[in-house]
Amino acid sequence: MHFLLYFWLLTSISLCLAVTPSRTIAKRDPTSFVSSTSSGFSVNGSSLRYVGTNLYWLPTLESNDDIWNVLANISSLGIKVVRLWAFNDVETIPDTGTWFQLVQNGTTTINDGPNGLQKLDTVIQMAEQQGLYVILSLTNNWNPVPNTTTTGNSTQVLASTNIPRNTLSNDFGGMDLYVRQFGLQYHDDFYTHAGILTAFQNYTQQIVTRYADSPAVFSWELANDARCNSTQATSPTCTTQTVTQWHATMASFIATLDSNHIVSAGTSGYQCTDCQKLYPITPTVTSTPSPAPGKKRKVTPLTNAQIVRKRAESKRRSRAAAIRAGTLKEDGIRIRGRWVSTMARRQEISTGSSSTTDGSAGVDSQDILNIPNIGFGSFQVFPDQESYGTDDPNLDPVDNKINSSLLWIQQSAQSAAAVGKPVVLTGFGLVTQDNLQSFVPFNMTYAPYASMATDVVNTTTSFANSTQQETGYSSFLENNDTKSIAVANSAGLAGVMQYQWGSTGITQSSSTIQLDSSTSPSTDTGDTPNDGYSIANNTAIQQILMQGAQAMAANPL
Ligand SMILES: *[C@@H]1O[C@H](CO)[C@@H](O)[C@H](O)[C@H]1NC(C)=O
Ligand SMILES: *[C@@H]1O[C@H](CO)[C@@H](O)[C@H](O)[C@H]1NC(C)=O
Ligand SMILES: *[C@@H]1O[C@H](CO)[C@@H](O)[C@H](O)[C@H]1NC(C)=O
Ligand SMILES: *[C@@H]1O[C@H](CO)[C@@H](O)[C@H](O)[C@H]1NC(C)=O
Ligand SMILES: *[C@@H]1O[C@H](CO)[C@@H](O)[C@H](O)[C@H]1NC(C)=O
Ligand SMILES: *[C@@H]1O[C@H](CO)[C@@H](O)[C@H](O)[C@H]1NC(C)=O
Ligand SMILES: *[C@@H]1O[C@H](CO)[C@@H](O)[C@H](O)[C@H]1NC(C)=O
Ligand SMILES: *[C@@H]1O[C@H](CO)[C@@H](O)[C@H](O)[C@H]1NC(C)=O
Ligand SMILES: *[C@@H]1O[C@H](CO)[C@@H](O)[C@H](O)[C@H]1NC(C)=O
Ligand SMILES: *[C@@H]1O[C@H](CO)[C@@H](O)[C@H](O)[C@H]1NC(C)=O
Ligand SMILES: *[C@@H]1O[C@H](CO)[C@@H](O)[C@H](O)[C@H]1NC(C)=O
Ligand SMILES: *[C@@H]1O[C@H](CO)[C@@H](O)[C@H](O)[C@H]1NC(C)=O
Repeated sequence: MHFLLYFWLLTSISLCLAVTPSRTIAKRDPTSFVSSTSSGFSVNGSSLRYVGTNLYWLPTLESNDDIWNVLANISSLGIKVVRLWAFNDVETIPDTGTWFQLVQNGTTTINDGPNGLQKLDTVIQMAEQQGLYVILSLTNNWNPVPNTTTTGNSTQVLASTNIPRNTLSNDFGGMDLYVRQFGLQYHDDFYTHAGILTAFQNYTQQIVTRYADSPAVFSWELANDARCNSTQATSPTCTTQTVTQWHATMASFIATLDSNHIVSAGTSGYQCTDCQKLYPITPTVTSTPSPAPGKKRKVTPLTNAQIVRKRAESKRRSRAAAIRAGTLKEDGIRIRGRWVSTMARRQEISTGSSSTTDGSAGVDSQDILNIPNIGFGSFQVFPDQESYGTDDPNLDPVDNKINSSLLWIQQSAQSAAAVGKPVVLTGFGLVTQDNLQSFVPFNMTYAPYASMATDVVNTTTSFANSTQQETGYSSFLENNDTKSIAVANSAGLAGVMQYQWGSTGITQSSSTIQLDSSTSPSTDTGDTPNDGYSIANNTAIQQILMQGAQAMAANPL
């Protein structure tokens, strides 16, 4: 029965694709689209409070059966929303693989062939069949170019950086690619150059109108992690207002094309309480009704001063505890039970000097969220690449990462609550020691720890072991109001999305999937891309996502 149903669906999908490659014809009841309230989402009259996952690579899989199986496995955990790239820009047409748009020397060409937007059509139609919603991101802040060497007239990509196209999330084109191909210099030219804006709106229009009637679309996400800076440096003039203005322009542009779907920003969540606002929050005088029994109380925003004070208090508390326990050690960190100098840890990828709350990244998430056409707030939690607070030297470094992430979740929720819109954690992840050799930071093209021996990984780095990853993910997702620091559920997040999904059962090779060709092809399967965050094979984490999904659904906003 199950098999037959599956077969029927695949057949009807391919028939449907053959006849109508681009549009879903049936006119939909407006209630079948996801809409937002002041704190959450609803669809067809029911609350949609969800756990989701990320799989930017899904449209690059060659086989539709593989796409179907990936989505089926995700859906079977109770996951409701997936987030992926609805862009795949190239500078020259590749010999193989999926691509959506050629951006070359200031002109653009969209590929709506079978290895182009028709792949996205398949993904979106299959998601709908599986009862999944899709957040479609329209561009990326990150697109570093791999290092090359040039001999004579030929340019070779360095072997160490030669990762197949589309394996990494930052290898799908994006803002820097437009900047390069329009002959410009600065990353933020993407936000201000008229020619780029026209080209990007052209692309956006084609994508948005293509799926404007699809109830499977959860939201149009303007960009992944927009900032002033990327591999192409920022100009001296880029400010938070530059980035906010671009979001406002794009959000109202999409609103003219599609009234069915919510627009969101996709920023990683930087706050800037003291930045000048384009969309200042006007305090409302309407009295807030007291919450119904069992409902979360409305949270008020923290000021920068309060954040600093909270951090100082928490540090003071654990220092006092350490003094009492006789374990105080100020000038080092404890790794696997022994103290090491902080110098060793500094050899890790720098977490960046820009504070998450001073506006130096060029992002004021609250100002962006208050743009009228932005429907919900977004932020991300990647404590291996970003610092969300000052480390407490008396804590295990992974505990520091988890604690600062929990505080960041709380701050982000409070910031959104002040605007009166829902907020979603659109990506979170901890790199584990097992995964470290595959880890590639978002702004890099090679795995810096690839050749580090496993025992060195365990003893000299501060990446989580699998138990710590499980503890962290549980604390981001679990429903536990007794904790002193807020977790996703008690903080009032409307959705929480793990980054990234991983599948091991892929049957067909592609640029991103390697099958072992030495054995019979019919028995070979490959793994989906792993940039250090994949949860392929990780049934413990899958279980945690499943429980989180139940907890979120059981506590509607
Ligand atoms: C919406 O809800 C109604 C009543 O609960 C149900 O009959 C209908 O099938 C639902 N529609 C969709 C598209 O899920
Ligand atoms: C790029 O476009 C300009 C005009 O916009 C043209 O003059 C130039 O020849 C083009 N360069 C290449 C390499 O095609
Ligand atoms: C818009 O996209 C279409 C389809 O790829 C392309 O033919 C056209 O040149 C684009 N226009 C602009 C202004 O980029
Ligand atoms: C690539 O180039 C950057 C900047 O020049 C350099 O820091 C990095 O080490 C290079 N990577 C490799 C793998 O050679
Ligand atoms: C590169 O140079 C070699 C000779 O040095 C020549 O045979 C070849 O055609 C050149 N390739 C291109 C793409 O110009
Ligand atoms: C901008 O990015 C470059 C390269 O990634 C980095 O060296 C620099 O510190 C960044 N600047 C800011 C302000 O983040
Ligand atoms: C993980 O790390 C913690 C803290 O260092 C340690 O207590 C625990 O035993 C480790 N677990 C495994 C499975 O290595
Ligand atoms: C990547 O970003 C980090 C943090 O912003 C920065 O320190 C580092 O220099 C960047 N690396 C590259 C290769 O751009
Ligand atoms: C290092 O960690 C891996 C994975 O967690 C584990 O299998 C291995 O036994 C550890 N090795 C040492 C020396 O702790
Ligand atoms: C909630 O967290 C507290 C403190 O960590 C713990 O003692 C309690 O068992 C947890 N409750 C549930 C239901 O997980
Ligand atoms: C889906 O899950 C099943 C059962 O765990 C597994 O055998 C299969 O390989 C998975 N398929 C994909 C594409 O992940
Ligand atoms: C998953 O398990 C398979 C089979 O044990 C292994 O070949 C593969 O490398 C694993 N993938 C990941 C991402 O751990």
